[in-house]
Amino acid sequence: MKRLIVERLKSLEILSSEDLELPGKDLHGCILSLSSRDIINYDKRERIICELTPEGKDVVDRGSPEFIFYNSIPADGVPVADCDRQKIGKAVAFRNGWVCKRGDRIFKAKSSVSDDVRLKLQNIEQSNENEVKQLQRRNLVVLKKKCYYLMQKGRCFGEDVQNLETEITAQMVVEGRNAPLKPFNFYTDGMITQCGALHPLTKFKSEIKNIFVGMGFVEMDTSHYIDSAFWNFDSLFMSQHHPSRDPSETFYLESHEVFKVPDEYFKRVRMMHESGGSGSVGYQTKWNSSVANKLMLRTHTTSESARCLFEMAQVPFKPVKMFSVDRVFRNEAVDSTHLTEFHQVEGLVVDKGLNLGHLMGTLEEFYRRMNLTRIRFKPAYNPYTEPSMEVFAYHEGMCKWIEVGNSGFFRPEMLRTMGFEGDVRVMAWGLSVERPAMIKYKLDNIRDLLGHKVNINFIKANGICKL
Ligand code: PHE
Repeated sequence: MKRLIVERLKSLEILSSEDLELPGKDLHGCILSLSSRDIINYDKRERIICELTPEGKDVVDRGSPEFIFYNSIPADGVPVADCDRQKIGKAVAFRNGWVCKRGDRIFKAKSSVSDDVRLKLQNIEQSNENEVKQLQRRNLVVLKKKCYYLMQKGRCFGEDVQNLETEITAQMVVEGRNAPLKPFNFYTDGMITQCGALHPLTKFKSEIKNIFVGMGFVEMDTSHYIDSAFWNFDSLFMSQHHPSRDPSETFYLESHEVFKVPDEYFKRVRMMHESGGSGSVGYQTKWNSSVANKLMLRTHTTSESARCLFEMAQVPFKPVKMFSVDRVFRNEAVDSTHLTEFHQVEGLVVDKGLNLGHLMGTLEEFYRRMNLTRIRFKPAYNPYTEPSMEVFAYHEGMCKWIEVGNSGFFRPEMLRTMGFEGDVRVMAWGLSVERPAMIKYKLDNIRDLLGHKVNINFIKANGICKL
């Protein structure tokens, strides 16, 4: 085939691949090979061609439905009811004024007609744009892109076109065959080396950890993906009637296994909910231990903070700064900003004399180290913190403020019940991991970051190191 191309080009300035009548796939390979050796130069072009559909071919063979319908009508007409099966032919014949209806019979309205549609299809090359559009609407033709190549003589035109060997094989050595070798191309790119990659979210999580460690925080244990409602809700002084306990918000387990909580503490939590204490009146409702003992997938890592705080309250007071980054689960409708599984950055500071300024300053510093310098706080309500603040960051790409977290000071109803002295303050926060990660990676759909829809190339592009 290569020889044929060269042979034809000898007497021509430009050769179009369409004049070669060769199969497209092989032809493309030949053209690439010839051009890589500068024997020819080529240009790839595209043009739109009009192709007959099976229906279109049928019209060419047998005539258009309207023509067939017209011809099927005898001089004394046909009953309308008999024409049901020729819907299209009938409708077009009527539209063309070829037939008419008198009473309940259809008659020819013209003595002869010409099948223009068939003629147009037979000479489709000569049809103008409008005509093609009409035929397209009737699904008789389709428009397709067709590529072709325009070839010209190259710098090395005239050289031998025989295939050059790309490697010396054992066979060639044994046979003593001295085949001409393809010259080295020192300008081509090397093969891309495969290397391990880290999921961007994994990288992002370790960045967060580094920031908190750098700010003097210690990482909490967050191993309880499954926890009891007691730690997730009750220990935080969340009412047993709180809507987020509903199965429409929270995933419960069928298992009846119980996470043991020290008896004394369990009783104190019951009392705080039912009748209050430490200056609070509680919820004044019955507290049900079987509701607290239910097992569930934790809805926030504040359950882990509660576990840590309880341990701390059992030993002599000392100031503490802790954080965690881990996964939480909520029964939510999935959309571009919500998934049923996501991650939270949790943090807490235990000390005396803490105030809102400390909380705002700590969070601002954390975000500043993440390169998010536009942070705002908004007063909010949380059952377990007072005061509480939502945290917003400015998304430069989306040009709007988006909520990135929630924070506040844990309530005395929670802390005193655990055993903390009245002057110990605990400021805390639960922040989104995915939202700032989306800001960083310029994504506007959370499903591009986490879950089965993530594009594997997005992960591969985040190699562990550059090779
Ligand atoms: N647990 C809260 C949430 O999931 C966040 C939070 C943690 C708020 C600690 C205040 C204090 O949104």
